[in-house]
Amino acid sequence: MPGIKGRTCATSIRGLIPWILLFNIMLLLYCLTSPSQVKIRSSHEDTCPLSMARLLKKSSTMPSQNAESQTQACSPKVNIMFMKTHKTASSTILNILFRFGEKHQLKFAFPDGRNDFFYPSPFLCSQVKDYRPGECFNIVCNHMRFDHREVAKLLPPDAVYVTILRDPVDLFESSFHYYHRAVPLTWRISGENKLAEFLNNPQAFYSPEAYNSFYLKNLLFFDFGLDNNLDADDPRVMRGINNLSRRFHLVLIAEYFEESLILLKDLLCWSTDDILYFKLNARKSSSVSRLDPETRAKALQWNGADWRLYQHFNASFWARVEAYGTERMKREVNQLRGRNAAMKAICIEGGEAVGAQKIQDGRFRPWQPVGESSIMGYNLRKDIDPRFKTICEKMLTPEIEYLSNLGVSLWLTRLWGWLKDTIY
Ligand SMILES: *[C@@H]1O[C@H](CO)[C@@H](O)[C@H](O)[C@H]1NC(C)=O
Ligand SMILES: *[C@@H]1O[C@H](CO)[C@@H](O)[C@H](O)[C@H]1NC(C)=O
Repeated sequence: MPGIKGRTCATSIRGLIPWILLFNIMLLLYCLTSPSQVKIRSSHEDTCPLSMARLLKKSSTMPSQNAESQTQACSPKVNIMFMKTHKTASSTILNILFRFGEKHQLKFAFPDGRNDFFYPSPFLCSQVKDYRPGECFNIVCNHMRFDHREVAKLLPPDAVYVTILRDPVDLFESSFHYYHRAVPLTWRISGENKLAEFLNNPQAFYSPEAYNSFYLKNLLFFDFGLDNNLDADDPRVMRGINNLSRRFHLVLIAEYFEESLILLKDLLCWSTDDILYFKLNARKSSSVSRLDPETRAKALQWNGADWRLYQHFNASFWARVEAYGTERMKREVNQLRGRNAAMKAICIEGGEAVGAQKIQDGRFRPWQPVGESSIMGYNLRKDIDPRFKTICEKMLTPEIEYLSNLGVSLWLTRLWGWLKDTIY
């Protein structure tokens, strides 16, 4: 017995070495790239001048090819804060925002050198590429740890704040799958079902201070800049939630994705064309662990603050649907499904997502978790109608590739990707 134990121990230590090296390299890079962000903190300006909003009004009333939106009394909103949460179908929303922004030549606040704003550090507007105090943007949508006051400095006062939540149990399962190898404390978990093992005794594998540990507890709370280690019954949990409900004009729910998009379209005064989508960054179903009721209950309890958050916004979501009109919602969802299905037939070879190894064109290959290739993508139809080629390409393009197409330098992200793929 001790022999076996010794051997597994040696193997896991050997497994750790590349990681330790990797994290050191990343830490070094991080330090090298961070200092510029400290300089321009803490100054005067609170929000963008109104002149920015007025200036942009013009571009928002541009003629639309779409008869549907012309008959509407509102004009499309162009100033948007999308708080991109982790593992919530937010990549699909990002693709929608990228396409809209590109089409209307809107100004994005992008990160520099990577695809997030120094996550998990709290957001600072100085992390935005080419930021100078007073500089204003139309859209902020990359991963960040939310800080309302900092975000507000970048956007005109009429900006619409939107985010998306997902059932915290499924989110936890997904986050565990995607990130557990990046949380050193979990390397000690043995056995096949690491997630169940973790939930059986979380205290053994979790510490609030441990590196990357936020990925494994109340990740939504953490993303919103709140304390992810609060007890669900702590009054600060509800206070945090109430604060968020004052900040965000609309909170989407991933489980009701189409309904969410219809509410978004309504709020932003967009057309159905603007919200067509293919599901991006989805996992192979074989890589998704089916949790038994007992494990689900444990996951829910472990992520109690996120559960409160989700319950709160799920309730307000359905109140919104009711106000919108339940029948009207059904019609709109059916229309959207029909249009998406038609686009699928036009754009996608074989009509559905395939595993990463089967994606022929490198531009459409999505980013993979460490040591896995469970994220699916699409092949563009070989005999694609030339009229649809461009729109189809955009709809199929994963986040990192699209960011790069929009001119964002991603050297740090790519270096990390290269290291991760070389070692695994
Ligand atoms: C809620 O917002 C108030 C006022 O902005 C702030 O003082 C308080 O710390 C916030 N509470 C939480 C839990 O985030
Ligand atoms: C969300 O709200 C809907 C409508 O009230 C309800 O049917 C559903 O069970 C809720 N989901 C959760 C996880 O509470």
